[in-house]
Amino acid sequence: LNNQIVIKSRQGDYKVDFVSNVSELSSLSVSNETFVVADALVYELYSAQLGKLTDLPTYLVDANEETKTIEGVSNLVDWLLKNKATRSANIIALGGGVIQDLVTFTAHIYYRGVSWTFLPTTLLSQSDSCIGAKCGINVLPLKNQLGVLHSPSHVVICSAFLETLPSIEIDSGYGEIYKLSLTGSGEFFQLLEKEVSDNGHKNSQILELTRLSLIAKQEIIEEDEYESDLRRVLNYGHSFGHALEALTHNQVPHGIAVMWGIDIINFLGEKWGISNPEIVTRVKLLIENTVDFQIEEMPSASDFVRMLGRDKKVENGLMNFAVMHEIGDIRIHSKALDEDLVLLVQEYLDGKPLFTTS
Ligand SMILES: NC(=O)c1ccc[n+]([C@@H]2O[C@H](COP(=O)([O-])OP(=O)(O)OC[C@H]3O[C@@H](n4cnc5c(N)ncnc54)[C@H](O)[C@@H]3O)[C@@H](O)[C@H]2O)c1
Repeated sequence: LNNQIVIKSRQGDYKVDFVSNVSELSSLSVSNETFVVADALVYELYSAQLGKLTDLPTYLVDANEETKTIEGVSNLVDWLLKNKATRSANIIALGGGVIQDLVTFTAHIYYRGVSWTFLPTTLLSQSDSCIGAKCGINVLPLKNQLGVLHSPSHVVICSAFLETLPSIEIDSGYGEIYKLSLTGSGEFFQLLEKEVSDNGHKNSQILELTRLSLIAKQEIIEEDEYESDLRRVLNYGHSFGHALEALTHNQVPHGIAVMWGIDIINFLGEKWGISNPEIVTRVKLLIENTVDFQIEEMPSASDFVRMLGRDKKVENGLMNFAVMHEIGDIRIHSKALDEDLVLLVQEYLDGKPLFTTS
């Protein structure tokens, strides 16, 4: 296993290191300008193993969507000012995507930018969001309306954190892993397929799957860091996924919604004559056999298409869908949000869509 990946970024290259034990994190270099911002739950579970990191000034917050709002940022800024953090401060963020978004935004605006180090503790943040520099802050009830790009200076991944992560969060983390395995190399998908069908989501290769996910994302973001055409393939599974999240008022966890979004766009891709039917079936079986989730009430086909119309990827009435041709070959196709699409979505829903009971 290669224990380090270096991500090239316009804001400065940064290292992603992999360690086995939480106690190894205590050897991170710190100064009297280092501050910790941590998920309160994670801190409670792991502070005994964090050694000298627990001597640093520490701000604890709950990982919920209210935390990553302007008010949440403002509270953290007040705390940093009270603790006399200057422009040379470094913030260590310990937690999942919520803590990441809060810290990225705050670090970007505090004295026009201070450095931050990320210790991701969820599968989603370890295998996907920890690289790429993006963040999203909520203006509730709307999610991720405000954002900045601010790369971390260092990321350290310790998969031992996953031992306490609830199963639903593990399943959800796999949403982005499935996506990245299909944008990546064929070997990555094969390893994922074998491991997950033999041993389920909590398998011994999870660290390797995380590493391969980051390498697949790295290839895309290094070529197209700031969202133009290439980076759009990272939206694979997300158009319908976001629509499902919005229509169910976020009752479906993000990664589960992405899996569902992958399945329906694969179905449509096959109908459009784009997606390889054999891969479509393999991906569906894999998800079906490993995720135990039920969607309480499925929105209607016309609700879905109406919701897609509010997506920021709509241009001149056409939606830019990321569609899989083959493993490792995802391309953007513009499609009208019209009655034909409603009928195809209806056909999918009338079949046996993922995560439904009957
Ligand atoms: N910036 C990005 O690129 C990006 C990408 C995707 C998602 N996000 C955002 O990330 C957020 C979701 O983040 P997430 O899925 O990483 O989870 P999270 O931060 O919302 O945490 C999920 C739950 O798991 C708990 N938890 C975290 N680590 C744990 C551990 N090791 N053991 C036990 N419990 C633990 C948290 O306390 C929380 O209850 C959303 O707000 C989403 O918008 C950001």
